[in-house]
Amino acid sequence: MNIMPEESLFHEVVGLLPQHSSEDGVLFPVVLCPNPKIGKEVQLTDAIKANKEWLDSLLYRSGAILFRGFPVFSASDFNDVVESSGYENFPYDIGGAGSRTNVVGRVYTANEAPPDQEIPFHHEMSHAPVYPSKLFFFCEVEPGSGGETCIALSHVIYERMKQKHPKFVEDMEEKGLIYTRIIGDESDPSSPVGRSWKLTFNTDDKTVAEERATKLGMKLEWVEGGVRVIIGPKPGSRYDETRKRKIWFNKVTGGMKDKLNQDLSKAVMFSDGKPVPADVANDSSKIFDEECIALQWRKGDVLLLDNLVVMHSRRPLTALPRRVLASFCK
Ligand code: FE2
Repeated sequence: MNIMPEESLFHEVVGLLPQHSSEDGVLFPVVLCPNPKIGKEVQLTDAIKANKEWLDSLLYRSGAILFRGFPVFSASDFNDVVESSGYENFPYDIGGAGSRTNVVGRVYTANEAPPDQEIPFHHEMSHAPVYPSKLFFFCEVEPGSGGETCIALSHVIYERMKQKHPKFVEDMEEKGLIYTRIIGDESDPSSPVGRSWKLTFNTDDKTVAEERATKLGMKLEWVEGGVRVIIGPKPGSRYDETRKRKIWFNKVTGGMKDKLNQDLSKAVMFSDGKPVPADVANDSSKIFDEECIALQWRKGDVLLLDNLVVMHSRRPLTALPRRVLASFCK
């Protein structure tokens, strides 16, 4: 439990869903509901504005806050919630791999990957030189079954992988990792990462695409039907300056197959071209499974993540519909 400001509009709930507890007793995720003692309907926007500093420090210590039970019904309500946080918008225009559509204001659909596909654990836009620091998600339509968003503490994954595969972690930090994938001339809606290069770089002009790619730290090699995008070498971990700890910052767990990317053995490699050993990838998946919290969405849920602390993934959906919206902050 965390000390609440007096007469807060929030009420912290414990045990509503699985939670991890850190050494100093902070829960992951924190779950906040409207304070029933207030006696009238609590707007999430008002509650956020009234407790901004407290929420900031809570997010800093926990990494994830789930707001449940507030009257947030539509994309536009969600946009108001994001605005009430005062965090600056991080526009999702150039460089992202997933297909997203702008819904309203600074709200986008979450990755429109085909429902039967799993989206592996990642820090949002970790491939880019600049990435969002905070992420908001909102459940507009709760999934029938499956489709959980899983969250895991990145520094815990790092520590456990370092214990299990010290040599790999050392190599990954020294040599760095290279990521390669082909993106098409046209978007492929059946692929979770099927955004065409034209959409990815927001141009039809190959030279402009190359210039924009360079700015994003990507190299392009034109191939039939699309372009091979090469990112890296990048260190597989980062140092979180403010919390003084290392975090897992890579996609060793695996790439995503689609029409243009059938052979995933080259999706992640060491800078010298050596592949990531299969047992390392398998063990990282296992550790994620053990450490993650799977959030079962309820309609109206708003989830706030610190993108440097938390990695997220999406489990496949077994029953449609599901509509989760997202908004990123600088
Ligand atoms: Fe994501």
